Amino acid sequence: MKRYYITTPIYYVNSVPHIGTALTTVVADACARFQKSRGRAVYFLTGTDENAPKVHQVAQQQGKSTQQFVDEMAEVFKRTWHALHIEYDVFMRTTEDRHKRTSAEVFRRLRQQGDIYEGRYEGWYCVSCETFFAPSKVGENNTCPDCGKPLEYRDEPCYYFRLSAYQERLREHILSHPHFIEPQVRRNETLGFIAEGLQDVAVSRSGTDWGIPVPEDPHGRVIYVWFEALLNYLTATDWLDKGDAYLEIWPPDLQLMGKDILPRFHATIWPAMLMALGLPLPERLYGHGWWIVNKQKMSKSLGNVYAPLEVAQALSDASGCELPYAVDAFRYYMLREMPTDSDAEFSLEGLETRYNGDLANDLGNLVHRTLSMMQRYFDGRIPAGARLDEPLAHLFQQQVAVVEEAYEAVDFPRGLREAWEIIGAINRYYDEQAPWSLVKAGNSERAGQVLYAGLEAVRILSVLVEPVMPQVAREIARQLQLSELPMWQSASELNALPVGHSLGEPRPIFPRLQAKPTSSTQPKTPSPQGTIASTAMNETITLEEFKRIQIRVATIRSAEPVPNTTKLYKLTIDLGTETRTIVAGIAETYTPDELVGRQIAVLVNLQPAVIRGVVSEGMLLAADVEGKAILLSPDKPVPEGSVVR
Ligand code: MSP
Repeated sequence: MKRYYITTPIYYVNSVPHIGTALTTVVADACARFQKSRGRAVYFLTGTDENAPKVHQVAQQQGKSTQQFVDEMAEVFKRTWHALHIEYDVFMRTTEDRHKRTSAEVFRRLRQQGDIYEGRYEGWYCVSCETFFAPSKVGENNTCPDCGKPLEYRDEPCYYFRLSAYQERLREHILSHPHFIEPQVRRNETLGFIAEGLQDVAVSRSGTDWGIPVPEDPHGRVIYVWFEALLNYLTATDWLDKGDAYLEIWPPDLQLMGKDILPRFHATIWPAMLMALGLPLPERLYGHGWWIVNKQKMSKSLGNVYAPLEVAQALSDASGCELPYAVDAFRYYMLREMPTDSDAEFSLEGLETRYNGDLANDLGNLVHRTLSMMQRYFDGRIPAGARLDEPLAHLFQQQVAVVEEAYEAVDFPRGLREAWEIIGAINRYYDEQAPWSLVKAGNSERAGQVLYAGLEAVRILSVLVEPVMPQVAREIARQLQLSELPMWQSASELNALPVGHSLGEPRPIFPRLQAKPTSSTQPKTPSPQGTIASTAMNETITLEEFKRIQIRVATIRSAEPVPNTTKLYKLTIDLGTETRTIVAGIAETYTPDELVGRQIAVLVNLQPAVIRGVVSEGMLLAADVEGKAILLSPDKPVPEGSVVR
């Protein structure tokens, strides 16, 4: 049977994962888990886009070979996705040999059949967006119409892909397949983009050797990064190497991405390439909106870029919630607030509100109070005669169907809102029926029935939240003492928990947040740098205050003097999930050679400061010996990012 094929874009490795790239990946993971729960075989692809000129540029800036740089960054992406409970089936890297071969073969075929032809490119290129722009589209002072950055002028012989020839067929396909592009707003946008007229696209670049070579090209050009990047979706199915076996996977059932890369790339060039190859088109392309922060686009220069794992860690630190459940809470927030049609604001206040409200008060509390009452009144065993009341049974089935339909439509905000209706209904039912009073009045039988409804709600909710919060769902199933996590279909079964079944000990999953974690997790805003050493030894702080201090182990990757200073080095440090720059006053005690490769302890949640023109994003810890800094290092090598407590 064909597998349900779901893809995320492959991410440029010039920067580390952030809440934008995490959004697409978390949405894809939730969709993949939902399909698996419904019993489908799934093939979930994500990966990294490594041949881009901007990736090459950053590697050069960091003084690394580009291959070494992309190898390191691909690991950072993999580690981050694992930590976010992303369960992909394949991680494609475009520097892999099979991808290079697939891309070259497609190029060859399309050239042979005349869909790729030789011409000359005279016009503009945006390295940041990796996009060619016709002169009529260029912004003021030759800037990029999309990102506003300065464009590069190119005048070179190049290959073109005959996109214009597919304009009509594309339009017809979109019109005759109402679900090909979703949501509707993106479909309309794409139809508008096509109506402006599709131009042939330049698909080769000269003057660089970082990229996939154009096959049999005497000029030594490379294939335009977007052209080959899109082909990763095909490479991952083994289309080139394994005969018809790729049809067990192809075509994609759901391709997810942000709205920025839909009309120009995934909804036009990509299907046109597939038409040219004579391959079936994807069933559905879904373009979500963007996260904005403080009403602005995220950008490094504004310092408003959130790193997903830091947010989850801070939530865990501030609430005492175990990290896997804090990660799930972060996933819940992303999906509950997910930008669908339009952009949405990402904020720590929003996360706190959802955490305390939806998770601690609603879901967590329902699970905990239901199981606690069952222990107290029934020794944790489902009493004889327990059965769901009819109106509730009906409501459960109805809500499961609505949630299913919303998840299928990639509308997680609606799906989760509808799932939470079950919690609201049970809380009202408890208030009305007051099982505690029933027990006091000697009516245990009725109390057992009321609590049984709560247990069934909890069981059903564990299934409904699993795609979104997989570890939390497992913990709920464990507390219910279910031998394995139930599949989707079991959510619409009623009275499934058998009489006599023993329940586990209740254990709170989401402790309420007392203090606000915002101050410790806020993305960096420049402020003067403080020192830990300035605290006198006899001044005490509370454990809570200490917990706000995040110290981690980092490996120094490079060290160079800050110009016009004698004491300062600019260090590039590797924290496992990200690299950062810090400025440290250790030039009098260490040479750069003594530092590179060494592990140090770094205060990572210090507000960044600009020191001699360099943004320092943390502070290393050192012993102060007569004004000289002597570094603190772990006793033996430890994984980068290890927490120091
Ligand atoms: N490498 C290309 C994709 C090639 S796919 C054949 C690329 N990479 S990217 O790393 O720049 O971005 C990948 C995804 O992250 C896109 O879907 C983009 O929309 C998404 N996001 C980047 N910033 C975002 C937000 N602030 N909010 C939500 N998603 C955003 O493009």
